[in-house]
Amino acid sequence: MQIRLDQEIQSPNRKKSRILWKPPQSMATRVLLPQFNSTFTNTTIFLSLNPRLPTTTRSRFSVLSMAESNRTTVLVTGAGGRTGQIVYKKLKERSGEYIARGLVRTEESKEKIGGDDDVLIGDIRNVDSVVPAVEGVDAVVILTSAVPKMKPGFDPSKGGRPEFYFEEGSYPEQVDWEGQKNQIDAAKAAGVKQIVLVGSMGGTNLNHPLNSLGNGNILVWKRKAEQYLADSGIPYTIIRAGGLQDKEGGVRELLVGKDDELLETETRTIARPDVAEVCIQALQFEEAKFKAFDLASKPEGSGTPTKDFKSLFSHVTTRF
Ligand SMILES: NC(=O)c1ccc[n+]([C@@H]2O[C@H](COP(=O)([O-])OP(=O)(O)OC[C@H]3O[C@@H](n4cnc5c(N)ncnc54)[C@H](OP(=O)(O)O)[C@@H]3O)[C@@H](O)[C@H]2O)c1
Repeated sequence: MQIRLDQEIQSPNRKKSRILWKPPQSMATRVLLPQFNSTFTNTTIFLSLNPRLPTTTRSRFSVLSMAESNRTTVLVTGAGGRTGQIVYKKLKERSGEYIARGLVRTEESKEKIGGDDDVLIGDIRNVDSVVPAVEGVDAVVILTSAVPKMKPGFDPSKGGRPEFYFEEGSYPEQVDWEGQKNQIDAAKAAGVKQIVLVGSMGGTNLNHPLNSLGNGNILVWKRKAEQYLADSGIPYTIIRAGGLQDKEGGVRELLVGKDDELLETETRTIARPDVAEVCIQALQFEEAKFKAFDLASKPEGSGTPTKDFKSLFSHVTTRF
């Protein structure tokens, strides 16, 4: 629930330009002024008016007080991506608990996910474009990744395997290492309280076929970013997903593992909506913090669909 108060205050006199205002309840309160947007955790707010303004000048402001103090502002990066957009949408659907924000790379990606003002455009390779996105957020869900492209000319009817490449400047080193590092650094500087990072299973094997894709060593760079996050001091959750599938979520039993052990089994895939759900659930439970784990699921119809995420996270014993 959200209560919006519109108030007008008048500077009492020119010399005394500080106005003390007590919100009605003890709660975090957000004050919105045209050039000012801060969160106060005290019950008292000081508003400074320009003493040179005439005493009759009124400063209009709005106060959003409420359950906002209980809501978590979450930035999803890669919010236009296939898993990122599910996380962003789920957060929007749970607006009683979350204030969603997205970071996408292009205007097209922004339009694709609805074009709302809470979606910022930025390139994670440039830390300056990440800084405004992390400002004032409580948690960041990192779903950015270098995306390999298929070389033209592949004809499936002739058999063989397609070849892949990364565009110049968009290799995993630049996106999955430097880009992730930029996000972690910016989040840390902004006082973000938790980072959920989605990585990939396979990182324990340097010779994993994904590393030779486009000569990008993608799992190596992802792993390096994961290590950087784990060493950052920020409470983190690293989710190393199995093969991602565009299937319905919430209908399978999820499995957590470590050190790529799940890759040796038959259960090494997971639906994107399930990964998205785990990202959000990780924000709710202390049991998910300072942990890194592999994530897959049983096939639909075998096992019991996972509902108890606290228990799922409790089964994770690995910090990295
Ligand atoms: N595919 C699999 O089977 C698999 C398996 C395990 C783990 N994973 C990992 O799971 C995660 C989610 O995968 P997904 O397939 O859902 O992701 P995806 O659709 O490939 O999305 C990746 C996103 O990263 C964004 N991005 C790339 N470079 C960027 C940059 N420089 N600045 C800002 N944004 C940038 C892309 O933006 P644009 O839309 O503008 O390109 C895209 O939205 C990834 O880390 C992936 O590696 C994938």
